[in-house]
Amino acid sequence: MALKNTADNYGAIAKWIHWLTALLFLGAYLSVYYRHWFTEYKTPENWTALQLHLSFGVTVGVLVVLRIIWRAKNRLPDDEPGSKLAHLAAHWGHYALYGVLIIVPLTGYIGTGVDTEFYFLFNIPEFGNTALFEAVVVNGLGLDFETFEKPIDFIHKALFGELLTLLLVGGHIAAALYHHFVKKDRTLKKMTSGNA
Ligand code: HEM
Ligand code: HEM
Repeated sequence: MALKNTADNYGAIAKWIHWLTALLFLGAYLSVYYRHWFTEYKTPENWTALQLHLSFGVTVGVLVVLRIIWRAKNRLPDDEPGSKLAHLAAHWGHYALYGVLIIVPLTGYIGTGVDTEFYFLFNIPEFGNTALFEAVVVNGLGLDFETFEKPIDFIHKALFGELLTLLLVGGHIAAALYHHFVKKDRTLKKMTSGNA
């Protein structure tokens, strides 16, 4: 399988990053809601679930940076036959997903008041304890962490976590399945087996 994208298919690197990201997304939702619904506050399980959420989320944030660099150095596979409007919707849908992939991990990281124990291997310091926070938020905007965190948390949890991400990813999955089972074109195959 080619590493780079071709006219017909996504290459191995784009596929790996795409499916790994999808899995990490699932992990991020499962861990955070497992924490909410099935653990007691301040127990070891509660902390482990939170730390897994932070680790999965930070990994998504790192992967999207690599993914954008790789995408800029690659051609995209050709679109399947369809109207101009459908192609435009698909491309803007993908840009919106890239928006999610950037905004959600970023707001998660900058709005969290604890270190990320990255898969329990090493610590990534919380944003509120960094020189950047001091320079931009405290000295630049004149805010303390509590005031800064409120709108950021709203964006991360209510706006994206509970609404926009689910709508966009849900729409994306529905579109992929529609192409595969109704239009019976190669859209899903470009991102999976690469078969004709
Ligand atoms: C794939 C990326 C991510 C997704 C999809 C995601 C999604 C979510 C969702 C759905 C919630 C629960 C919202 C609610 O309260 O109902 C949440 C909460 C939270 N997220 Fe994320 N998040 C991601 C990345 C991150 C990152 C990178 C961090 C920090 C490093 C982070 C920190 C938090 C924290 C502290 C909470 C509150 C936890 C709790 O109340 O139990 N998230 N996130
Ligand atoms: C079961 C889950 C998923 C399926 C079946 C799926 C399917 C696909 C398919 C078939 C494509 C290629 C579309 C085309 O070339 O027109 C694609 C691209 C893409 N997917 Fe997914 N996807 C899934 C989950 C996700 C998730 C969770 C995200 C991120 C939040 C995501 C983000 C993207 C992005 C950004 C692209 C565009 C890639 C590019 O051209 O740069 N996908 N997906």
